[in-house]
Amino acid sequence: MSNTIKITIDGVAVETTRGKTIFEAARENGIFIPTLCNVDNVKPKGSCRICSVYISGRLMTACTTQVEDGMEIENDTAKLNDMRKAIVELLFVEGNHFCPGCERSGSCELQALGYRFLMMVPRFSFLFQTRDIEATNPKLMKDNNRCIMCKRCIRGIKDEDGKSFFAFARRGHKVVINLDRKQAAKLTDDLARQAMEICPVGALILKGKGFDVPIGRRKYDTKPIGSDVEAKGGNC
Ligand code: SF4
Ligand code: FES
Repeated sequence: MSNTIKITIDGVAVETTRGKTIFEAARENGIFIPTLCNVDNVKPKGSCRICSVYISGRLMTACTTQVEDGMEIENDTAKLNDMRKAIVELLFVEGNHFCPGCERSGSCELQALGYRFLMMVPRFSFLFQTRDIEATNPKLMKDNNRCIMCKRCIRGIKDEDGKSFFAFARRGHKVVINLDRKQAAKLTDDLARQAMEICPVGALILKGKGFDVPIGRRKYDTKPIGSDVEAKGGNC
């Protein structure tokens, strides 16, 4: 059985390989599907739902659903993009995101998706949560105001035995990301930097020198999120 299969995305026929996710197949064909909880080299979890697409009328997450031959996928539609915009708006009103004063401005995926979906005033009311900034760790500062609970740090930052450095603490609406106290002693400079980089927003920031590229010249300051994927175009 050939590993090459054909699917359609928004009516365009593209080739891909069996075993890939819809997100991967779209990206290799120059088609952007937004993601937040998904990150390269970490098993997808499907928690943020921003990558949702329609397959035969069913809403499925593109980051966790594998392609099948003949699959017909709806992605770039007004309905789906409005739903994605609503997710971005929900995340903005649920946390406290002050982009002009955030060290991650210009390379923050949430901010970049806000621009991509032309978010102006969110349709939901701001919750004005009171959340802490924790700066006790000598290497990393954690700003709970900005955390979008994507679990990328939990799933992606681990020691050599596969034990996570981060975990959720507290319950319900008080849940926060916690840097495990025992594990924190093992956090190298390299892992601390990886934690800052895997975070899609500015919730984990290195103490001392943070980002090398100044605001105004960062990835999403110069080009909209997804434009690098779309610039590659399709493969068939
Ligand atoms: S700290 Fe960052 S990576 Fe971790 S859950 Fe929060 S937003 Fe995601
Ligand atoms: S990116 Fe697919 S559910 Fe979050």
